[in-house]
Amino acid sequence: CGIVGYLGTKDAFPILMKGLGRLEYRGYDSAGTALLNSNGGLSVYKTKGKVADLTAFCNDKDVSGTVGIAHTRWATHGEPSSVNAHPHYSESKNLAIIHNGIIENYADLKRKLREKGLSFRSDTDTEVLVQLIEYVQTKKNLDLLTAVQLALHEVIGAYAIALLDKREPNQIIAACRQSPLVIGVGDNEFFLASDASPIIEYTDKVVYLEDGSIAVMRKGEDLKVVNILNRELFPKIQTVDLDLGQIEKGGYPHFMLKEIFEQPECLTNCMRGRVNVEATNVTLSAVIDYKKQLLSAKRIIIVGCGTSWHAGLIGKQIIESLCRIPVEVEYASEFRYRNPVVTDKDIVVAISQSGETADTLAAVRLAKQCGAFIYGICNVIGASIPRATDTGSYIHVGPEIGVASTKAFTGQVTVLTMLALALAKERGTVDDDTYFSIVRELSVIPQKMQETLELNDRIAMLSRIFTYARNFLYLGRGYNYPVALEGALKLKEISYIHAEGYPAAEMKHGPIALIDSDMPVVVIATRNSMYEKVLSNIQEIKARKGKVIALVTKGDDTISKMVDEVIELPDTQECLEPLVATIPLQLLAYHIAVCKGKNVDQPRNLAKSVTVE
Ligand code: G6P
Repeated sequence: CGIVGYLGTKDAFPILMKGLGRLEYRGYDSAGTALLNSNGGLSVYKTKGKVADLTAFCNDKDVSGTVGIAHTRWATHGEPSSVNAHPHYSESKNLAIIHNGIIENYADLKRKLREKGLSFRSDTDTEVLVQLIEYVQTKKNLDLLTAVQLALHEVIGAYAIALLDKREPNQIIAACRQSPLVIGVGDNEFFLASDASPIIEYTDKVVYLEDGSIAVMRKGEDLKVVNILNRELFPKIQTVDLDLGQIEKGGYPHFMLKEIFEQPECLTNCMRGRVNVEATNVTLSAVIDYKKQLLSAKRIIIVGCGTSWHAGLIGKQIIESLCRIPVEVEYASEFRYRNPVVTDKDIVVAISQSGETADTLAAVRLAKQCGAFIYGICNVIGASIPRATDTGSYIHVGPEIGVASTKAFTGQVTVLTMLALALAKERGTVDDDTYFSIVRELSVIPQKMQETLELNDRIAMLSRIFTYARNFLYLGRGYNYPVALEGALKLKEISYIHAEGYPAAEMKHGPIALIDSDMPVVVIATRNSMYEKVLSNIQEIKARKGKVIALVTKGDDTISKMVDEVIELPDTQECLEPLVATIPLQLLAYHIAVCKGKNVDQPRNLAKSVTVE
């Protein structure tokens, strides 16, 4: 979702619409705006569709006003519709709010407000928040800021909000917690947005609001930022040095690098509202809504292509291990032509970033005809595959533009992990200790990914050494075998160097014949249950003079002494290692391709979404 706001001397509407347009890359299925109009009223317009649909809808409406807020929504729950679109009103219609994030205790708050006699127009958590603010405001006859502070005391969850109050027409109040907000500070005007891109063409002075900040923007006054206890915060006004062309790429030279670096944030978004804030539970709405169908299944078949198929291989291991149900993983293109045995006792999980891959869609349709229950794991909302499935979970990593898939892969693995945990809990196949420890560790994976991204400079240096290799071998075992496949695929896709991924122990049955002093071998050798075995594989390569680049757990000095290059990863649970181990391999492929001067974002012959078989 995306938030934009304006308060100043110019007409707000065109600024808001342009800003929403810049945020459309964050996904959209509906859009809306609220303006304090020139008659002292509050105009609220919203519609299903894109920003252009909202602009068209407003063609014959009163869009006057110099203070306004606007929102694009990317549905997490519920149909995209104008009712569910933001802004939402309070009961008196004095307040209008836009919101990104999820209020986790909204059902509780709603029940309490109902007991006080309030009624609701929509099913959204956002409406509960605006009603709560108004309830507090009216009951105690408070100004908007104090009411927001008191209301936010009651809220559990993540949010970025912006509020207008008809009775305080020269003001916008915004607040955020675990969801980004940026304020642009101009001459007698303020801009507000989810990232700097809608702001940059008007001012280069911005404030990135910290978690727990509440910003008060008033005409003719300086920006004021406080916390919920009303302690004044003095955030730094920064000068951003970005031009508009760079913005779309967030200042990165390529979309691929931007998307690699976005992964911690993407996974936070992917887990928002699913892994609770205390990290003690995982809930997927599809597992709640389709519990009966999911629990009665005797087998799971995962279908996908390319990177999505690799994610499926990791999913198989974690689902089998936690849920004790057999899982098969198939290339969608093979599955659909194999006359497979599929029955109404099967769940078919279709994984697809784009949701449009022709082979995966055909596999879904075939499995449906056979009576299987179909579960989609997709990124693009409302694409063909999610429409053809019985249920599913979106990965919510935002639009992926680089053709080589990066953040979608880690998003898919995260959803598969959450699915395994939620199903295992329902099936009673996981003990509490295992369940809690994985959930807890999953919740801190974004931090560990962030730590791993700090290896970027080191990997850029390493890649210079290996740019001219003609072949690469990638080895891993267990959960890291699919990581080896994915690492090799990334390198092939964008640098055009031939690379193969192999299960480390299989090397001696063939690929070992290729090893000589010109052959770089990337080995994922983290300290886990396979450690000793992988260590022997490394010795086998070194005995044949292969060049080994080893991914090890931080502090491992045994392997460091044996190999040519070492990349140290933060320690994590074995089943979550792919989420950190993939990052250096994405970066290695990226830097090698850049060194070779290849078109990283649009490699030759490849397409982002393959809608032909
Ligand atoms: C194409 C893309 C790959 C992607 C595969 C499956 O080959 O280039 O990056 O992994 O399709 O795409 P999907 O959208 O179904 O995940």
